[in-house]
Amino acid sequence: MDEQFARDVMHGLSTTPKYLHSKYFYDQRGDSLFQQIMELDEYYLTDCEFEIFQNNKEDLLQHVTTNGKPFDLIELGAGDGTKTKILLKYFLEQGADFTYKPIDISNNALNLLHRDLAQNIPTLKIETLQGEYFNVLSHIESIPGKNKLILFLGSNIGNFLKPVAEDFLTRLSTILAEGDMLLLGVDLTKDPAVIAKAYNDSKGITREFNLNLLSRINRELKGDFNLNNFEHYPFYNPVSGTARSFLISKTRQTVTIDRLNASFHFEAWEPIHTEYSHKYHLSELSKLATDSGFKVLKNYTDSRQYFVNGLWRVAHNI
Ligand SMILES: C[S@@+](CC[C@H](N)C(=O)[O-])C[C@H]1O[C@@H](n2cnc3c(N)ncnc32)[C@H](O)[C@@H]1O
Repeated sequence: MDEQFARDVMHGLSTTPKYLHSKYFYDQRGDSLFQQIMELDEYYLTDCEFEIFQNNKEDLLQHVTTNGKPFDLIELGAGDGTKTKILLKYFLEQGADFTYKPIDISNNALNLLHRDLAQNIPTLKIETLQGEYFNVLSHIESIPGKNKLILFLGSNIGNFLKPVAEDFLTRLSTILAEGDMLLLGVDLTKDPAVIAKAYNDSKGITREFNLNLLSRINRELKGDFNLNNFEHYPFYNPVSGTARSFLISKTRQTVTIDRLNASFHFEAWEPIHTEYSHKYHLSELSKLATDSGFKVLKNYTDSRQYFVNGLWRVAHNI
């Protein structure tokens, strides 16, 4: 049993309002469901970032290799690396000297990624690092000598509350050196109807992805959640620019989780909050960069202006 998972579930279900942390979506089933989500037209984020990388890989490489030094390409929350592969292949074709270091909390995702890359890009130097962003970031501190390009894609930054995102980026800039860079993928504010569909697709895969959190508790912590008694409820607030996902208890019920030695009572229509996905304005992002010790070098956007990949350079003395 993962002790941290048990502790966090205990805390989240004992708190009012109840919550479960979104990082726990990604067990083996969750990884596979997320891959299906990325293939949905409604989940526009993947297509946007794909387009941005296809159109800007050359410019990006020029910025990253201006000083001619070898570099580490460190990806936070790499998942299956679908979009990253565009950059990896292009950078290698151009003779760039780099090592790819994907970090992910999901061992399953890292193993699949490692196997896939060993097979499809055999000349790639790769070192996988399993763990939470914050824990593995301390390893990054101790890697000497080379320049670093950090990738934080897929709008993963949107899963943090905005002040937490600023703290995270500040911590990142602090442990990086002058000249290191960050490529940050961020979902932009847009038509609320487009955003709402991305979290409530017509095939019901995001619904299954959200409910899988309860299945995971049943599997790993011996819970007795009846999934039929819960509904997926995503909600986008255009004022705050925040998409939030909930699981709603459709009935008054008590759920027992054996490995926690605990039972949890739910009122009818009581929510469990499971995810934030914050959207940003471009102007907010340049302030965020400055406030967290970076300077924006370039903003690459897709043709619909739905998404941005900001290339930021560490700028401690601003
Ligand atoms: C939304 S997916 C995005 C994957 C990839 N970056 C992309 O853009 O396609 C989030 C990934 O980050 C990982 N992840 C989520 N929270 C994490 C955390 N706190 N520490 C490390 N990895 C995390 C998940 O396991 C998952 O593979």
